[in-house]
Amino acid sequence: MGRVELLEKVVGADALVCSPFDCIDTEVFNRAGRLRVVSTYSVGFDHIDLAEATRRGIYVTHTPDVLSGAVADIAWGLLLAASRHIVLGDKYVREGLWRPDSDLGFMIGHDFHDKTLGVVGFGRIGAEVARRGKGFGMKILYFSRDRKPVLEAELGATRADLDRLLSESDYVSVSLALNDATRGLIGERELSLMRKTAILVNTSRGAVIVESALAAALKKKQIAGAGLDVFEREPLPKDSPLLGLDNVVLLPHMASATVETRDRMALLAAQNIVDVLSGRLPKALLNSEVQAVRSLAAVRMI
Ligand code: DGY
Repeated sequence: MGRVELLEKVVGADALVCSPFDCIDTEVFNRAGRLRVVSTYSVGFDHIDLAEATRRGIYVTHTPDVLSGAVADIAWGLLLAASRHIVLGDKYVREGLWRPDSDLGFMIGHDFHDKTLGVVGFGRIGAEVARRGKGFGMKILYFSRDRKPVLEAELGATRADLDRLLSESDYVSVSLALNDATRGLIGERELSLMRKTAILVNTSRGAVIVESALAAALKKKQIAGAGLDVFEREPLPKDSPLLGLDNVVLLPHMASATVETRDRMALLAAQNIVDVLSGRLPKALLNSEVQAVRSLAAVRMI
């Protein structure tokens, strides 16, 4: 939905379904006097002003769990495509460059088995990425605020600080929510810690990585490659330096895009609304404090 349409349609609405491409801020709330619930069709919710919604007594819900597998699959698609030059190989065949005397040096990538996968953010999606890595016979390092003993036991994973993870991993996958603590987490210094042969993929939010620093690192071949499903600005601006690089695979924020996953997300997004409008606590509520705000408001009206 475009911004103008959003601002028009939200007037008089009791519930709003949105996606990460809609910015739900004070301007939207000011126009939505009746709004009781914002249900985002995504696990990420950095596009919603959660504090403002809570202050106004508006429930905010999302769609966790149901998309973890699909997003982890795309993280792996990017890891494989970037490391094994799948996109370049496809282009090579299509453009008729594949001849008996071709120099095939560009095809040479690296193995996955016996290598180290660093998972930055070890929540639901990070764990699925790691499970797939385990299937590839990889050693798993993870970076997370909290220790995850159950996953450590299941996957033989080791917790590491970010610097260690970046310097010891052959492949790094980012699956962290975007917030004040994670914005710009991987910048020039962090990229300089990575191996020259390393591949970095991001399926969370673009702004977790400083995009200009990543483009510079890729250009200098300071790291071998990257795969990105998310960007600081989406759609990716036409003048992005990433577009001129052939060691990065670029996708249009499509990690959850499978029929089964999108169906589950739609059902959960709808159920969250039905729950709020029926006076039940929604399963995937992001701002439980909203109940206290609403109770206080009700008391004030008596
Ligand atoms: C989400 O749902 O937040 C992700 O962006 C899926 O790709």
